[in-house]
Amino acid sequence: MATATHLLGMDLANPVVVGSGLLTDQERNIRRLLHSGAGAVVTKTIHPNPPTGLDERIIRLPTGMINSTTYSKRSVDHWVGILHDLARDGLPVIASLHADSPVELAELATRVEAAGCRALELGISCLNEKDGLDDVPERVYAYTSAARAATRVPFSVKLASGEGLHARALAAARAGADAVTISDTLPAAAVHPETGDLRLGGVFGYSGPGIKPLVLASLWKLRSAGFSLPLMGSGGVQSGRDVHDYLGVGAVAVQVYTALHTDMNLTLTRIVAEATGSGNTDHSCAPVVGADRSGQVRS
Ligand SMILES: Cc1cc2nc3c(=O)[nH]c(=O)nc-3n(C[C@H](O)[C@H](O)[C@H](O)COP(=O)(O)O)c2cc1C
Repeated sequence: MATATHLLGMDLANPVVVGSGLLTDQERNIRRLLHSGAGAVVTKTIHPNPPTGLDERIIRLPTGMINSTTYSKRSVDHWVGILHDLARDGLPVIASLHADSPVELAELATRVEAAGCRALELGISCLNEKDGLDDVPERVYAYTSAARAATRVPFSVKLASGEGLHARALAAARAGADAVTISDTLPAAAVHPETGDLRLGGVFGYSGPGIKPLVLASLWKLRSAGFSLPLMGSGGVQSGRDVHDYLGVGAVAVQVYTALHTDMNLTLTRIVAEATGSGNTDHSCAPVVGADRSGQVRS
C-alpha cells in the first residue's frame, strides 16, 4: 500500500504526483488536482522564451497519445505570481523549469526561488522543439550544475528513457540534482491512413500506457546498477496497480499525466484511492475555499 513519502524536501500525503503538462498550465487546475488527492503537482514547464508559431497539438492512439506541445506560453512574471500564491498557501507544488541556455535556466531558478517555491523539476528533456532532442550527459550536466549553483531549492532532473540514460542520470547526480524523474515522453510517429504522411508532421512525444513497460525497465536497470538518487517514475500510470509497480522497482514517487486527460479529477481521485487503499474516491462535493489569480472561485 502506498503511504506518505518524503520528496524534494516536502512531506507528501501520498506518492502520487501529477506530472507536468497542459493540465497543469493553470493555477485553477493545480489547486483542483491537489484537492482531488495529488501528493504534489508539477507545473507545465515554465520557459522565459517559449517557441512560437509551432503547431502544438495532441493525437490519441489506442495505447496513449502523441503530443507536439512544448512549454507554457504564460510569462515568467505571471508564473512567479502564481507560484507565490501557491507557496503562501503551503501547497506542494513543484515548478517545472527550462530555458534556452544554462545561464538563463539559472536566472529563472533564482526568480522562482524568490517566489517561495519549495521544489523544482528541470524539464530539460522535451523532444518537441524544432530540431528534436539528442540528449547527452554533457548537456544534462551543464543545465543541472547551473541550476544547482543558482538555487538551494531541492530539484529533480527530468530525463527521457532511452539510449545512454545511465550516463545522463549520473551526470545529473554529479551536477548536484536531488532526484531524477524518468521519463519524459518518447519519440514516436503515427501515419495518416489516407495520405501516408506522418500525423502532426513529424516525430513527437509519446506518452500513456504504451510506454510504461519501457520506463519500468529503465528504473529497474538504474536501481540494479546502484544508482542511488531518489527516482520519480513517470509513464503510463492509469491505476493504483501501476503506482505500485513503479514503487516496486524503486521509485519514491510516481507521476501520472496522460490518464488525466479523461475525467481529470475523478481519474486522479480513483488512482490515489487505489494506490493508498483509502477507498475515499469522492472529493467532488467538498468545497475549496479561495480564489485563484483569475478571480475564479475554486470548487
Ligand atoms: C500533452 C502533454 C504535455 C506535456 N507537457 C510537458 C511539459 O511541459 N513538461 C514536461 O516535463 N513534461 C511534459 N509532458 C510529459 C508528462 O509530464 C509525462 O512525463 C509523460 O507524458 C509520461 O507520463 P504519462 O504517460 O503518465 O503521461 C507532457 C505530456 C503530454 C501528453
